[in-house]
Amino acid sequence: MDFLFKTAGNILFGAGKLQKLGHLVGEMGGSVMLVTGRTALKKTGLLDKILADFKGRGLKSTVFDAVPPEPTLGVVEDGVMLAKSSNADVIAAVGGGSVLDVGKAVAALAPSGITPRDFFYGTPIPGNGLPFVAVPTTAGTGSEVTAVSVLIDDGKAHAKVGTRSPYMFPDLAIIDPVLMLTAPPDVTANSGMDALCQAIEAYVSRGASLVTDVLAADAAQRMILALPNAYADGGNLAHRENMALGSLMGGMAFANARLGLVHGMAHPVGVRTGLPHGLICGLLLPAVIRFNAPVCGEKYARLAWESGLAPRDSSVEEAAEALAAQADRLNNIMSLSSRKKELRVPKEAWPAVVEQVLISGSTKSNPRYVTPDDVLGILGEL
Ligand SMILES: [Fe+2]
Repeated sequence: MDFLFKTAGNILFGAGKLQKLGHLVGEMGGSVMLVTGRTALKKTGLLDKILADFKGRGLKSTVFDAVPPEPTLGVVEDGVMLAKSSNADVIAAVGGGSVLDVGKAVAALAPSGITPRDFFYGTPIPGNGLPFVAVPTTAGTGSEVTAVSVLIDDGKAHAKVGTRSPYMFPDLAIIDPVLMLTAPPDVTANSGMDALCQAIEAYVSRGASLVTDVLAADAAQRMILALPNAYADGGNLAHRENMALGSLMGGMAFANARLGLVHGMAHPVGVRTGLPHGLICGLLLPAVIRFNAPVCGEKYARLAWESGLAPRDSSVEEAAEALAAQADRLNNIMSLSSRKKELRVPKEAWPAVVEQVLISGSTKSNPRYVTPDDVLGILGEL
């Protein structure tokens, strides 16, 4: 047996742990750039609280709050410029997956002299960037423990890619489920289905190891049970804590095991439809489970048996189908299914989509070999 396992430098988990942010950032530098979204953190008053805490500790702070839900290379470029002009020596990102993705790219690129565009098209980052702290407010993309930043080139190429660099692992992840209590139901549903997909895809991935299996299986089972509860009762800390743990452990797994066909398809479909990543993942998941079941049915079945979706004496085929049916059920009860029509990509774009799906690293990690006709088949089902 051999494997390499990488994750964030330190992981701090628990209700109320955000209070440690100022102290821990202060140990890394004296000038912090806080990366966040356009509105959420301001509405809850959290941004002011964090900045007041930084000030009280004698930290100089600059806010970069221009991160949209689907960030482009231009956004990263703006962030790098601000990090340089404000002489930031530590970057802290507080927000959803897109905020963390922009934060880690800015931190890695700012001292490198490499442009976001060159990085996007394959120029490697040569060494350590600025220290980077990730604080997720959703559960989630798992971005707080991965070296992936999903970015969009909105120019002629019109591509959405999960860029990677070993220098983009966060130095510190602070996961505080209290921050997730105020996430609205659609955000809980979309980010929750993303997290569940990631755990399931990591579990059956070609790159899975014993360590990623333990993390991914617990994450998937935990979220299968917790997600409908967190959606129905968002103010319940126990449900949010389970989702935060599931998202974290799924992220730790897929950062090493990689993903599968759901994620291979989600980016090319996302860049053409503009739909939220998690919504696309959720809607693709049942079809991909059914497609993969002939080659990894036993692992799917184990998830179904362990989370009580199928009786222990059911066959592998029956239990794997119960997992796919549960994904359908979650999409229905959280109202994702009603948006399925919006997922349709115009037929003239299908050849380009197929090409992008097949070169994706996620697709290459899918347990079942994927042909162009397989992708067309799933696109046709939408
Ligand atoms: Fe994802």
